[in-house]
Amino acid sequence: MIRFFICAALVITFFATASPAQDALQTLKLPEPDKTGGKPLMQVLSERHSSRAFSDQALPPQLLSNLCWAAFGINRPDGRRTAPSARNWQEISLYLCMADGVWLYDAREHALIRLLREDLRKQTGTQPFVETAPLNIVYVADTQKMNTSAADDGALYLGADCGFIAENVYLFCASEGLAVVVRGRVQREELGLALQLEAHQRIVLAQTVGYPAN
Ligand SMILES: Cc1cc2nc3c(=O)[nH]c(=O)nc-3n(C[C@H](O)[C@H](O)[C@H](O)COP(=O)(O)O)c2cc1C
Repeated sequence: MIRFFICAALVITFFATASPAQDALQTLKLPEPDKTGGKPLMQVLSERHSSRAFSDQALPPQLLSNLCWAAFGINRPDGRRTAPSARNWQEISLYLCMADGVWLYDAREHALIRLLREDLRKQTGTQPFVETAPLNIVYVADTQKMNTSAADDGALYLGADCGFIAENVYLFCASEGLAVVVRGRVQREELGLALQLEAHQRIVLAQTVGYPAN
């Protein structure tokens, strides 16, 4: 009888902890980023390039941590970041689409927050490699954070702000010997629906990262 109750309790616990609602809000604290390493800047600039051949090998947590921090982490006590942003709006968010779901980079906590459990890598682009590369970053602008009256400036600024972050990722990848390509070819409407974005959020670019294919 006691054994029956123990088994029942285990089953209930399993289903309770495995519910999508709980998993969807899972937070993964990233290890401290290693800010000491890397190749010299001029060498990194010499080696920066786009690649479209990726291994499907997953990226380890320390690498993800370093990558996120290099991309758009906080580098000063006042909360400013590794990339500039127009009027310090910091309107670009990084959505990390990986095999185990979609994760939002929380720079303040240096953590990843799981938004969705689905593997949406295939939906992040039209090129075949997006489906199997371990990471597709989708850059999402929150236009509510951009209190500009001139619509043209807004579009230019969010493009520029996203470009700075994407270039940080390019330089980090060149330093680490990773393959990377930034992508404008994104089906924004479909992907926005899959990511459950709101009307004020706009997909700017995507960027695929992984180890080079052998
Ligand atoms: C805004 C932007 C959009 C791009 N979109 C794509 C894309 O959708 N797919 C792709 O394979 N490469 C894309 N690229 C990468 C360019 O094709 C690449 O940067 C260019 O060919 C120069 O090569 P390099 O990066 O090796 O110098 C894009 C680059 C930029 C800056």
